[in-house]
Amino acid sequence: MGKIISIVNQKGGVGKTTTTVNLGVSLSLEGKKILIIDFDQEANATITLGIKREQVQKDIVNFLFDEKITTEHIVPTGVVNVDIICASLRISMLEQMANDIDTKELMLHNKLEEVKNNYDYILIDCPPAFGLIIDNALYASDSVIIPVECSFYAYDALTQMVNKINEIQKEKDLDIEGILLTKLDNRNTIGYKIVEQVKFMFPYNTFNTIISVSSHIQEAPMYGKSVIQFSYNSRGSKEYRELAKEILEKDDKSRK
Ligand SMILES: Nc1ncnc2c1ncn2[C@@H]1O[C@H](COP(=O)(O)OP(=O)(O)O)[C@@H](O)[C@H]1O
Ligand SMILES: [Mg+2]
Repeated sequence: MGKIISIVNQKGGVGKTTTTVNLGVSLSLEGKKILIIDFDQEANATITLGIKREQVQKDIVNFLFDEKITTEHIVPTGVVNVDIICASLRISMLEQMANDIDTKELMLHNKLEEVKNNYDYILIDCPPAFGLIIDNALYASDSVIIPVECSFYAYDALTQMVNKINEIQKEKDLDIEGILLTKLDNRNTIGYKIVEQVKFMFPYNTFNTIISVSSHIQEAPMYGKSVIQFSYNSRGSKEYRELAKEILEKDDKSRK
């Protein structure tokens, strides 16, 4: 049965898309079958996985509203065992389109019931804003990963995000899979201070794996690739592959 994980933080530029794509590819290398849902109109996950905007036939909005799900909604990427439901600019109209629906925050949850058993992990790349999209993602998810950039302003966003998760937890089960510290710059002491503070505040929820600043990570999307495909032996690739292993080990333990 597929485990559904949302990658969330209402702050932009913290590494949500980078984490979704590179974690997805890393999990696939561990033999897992992955579905990535690009739920951000920027379509950065779609593009990073080698699919251009003009190639998108059916997007996540079609997936939510069309009666029948077909192979046009869920498409293979260039990576074996990684499928994607693509994003488009129409996501910005979702709120309007869902106006008359009673349980509009459950649309994604209901649709994913049909496909979730085909995958080991379903990763949802969320946009940087609270609203109907994040609500749909959280109601559909078993857990969340919160990427936190190792910079001063990251802190306030993390507190708000955790408050939001606590709110949802009153209505349904939703684990914090982990807080992922990203973009750590080893030339900069502020980054290490943020690491310390986050680990102090969330000692049981912070991943051991930390993602460093990496030019390879930054460059890979230009080639429509994850950093794993772009530069397998780079530090960024290694760190995301470690993250995948950390998540798999934790899931193995919780199953025993
Ligand atoms: N570890 C990293 N090192 C260097 N650049 C990074 C790293 N993680 C993300 N980036 C870059 O930072 C920008 C924002 O990352 P992204 O994953 O798109 O964030 P979000 O989805 O949260 O807005 C992108 O240009 C991305 O390539
Ligand atoms: Mg993004």
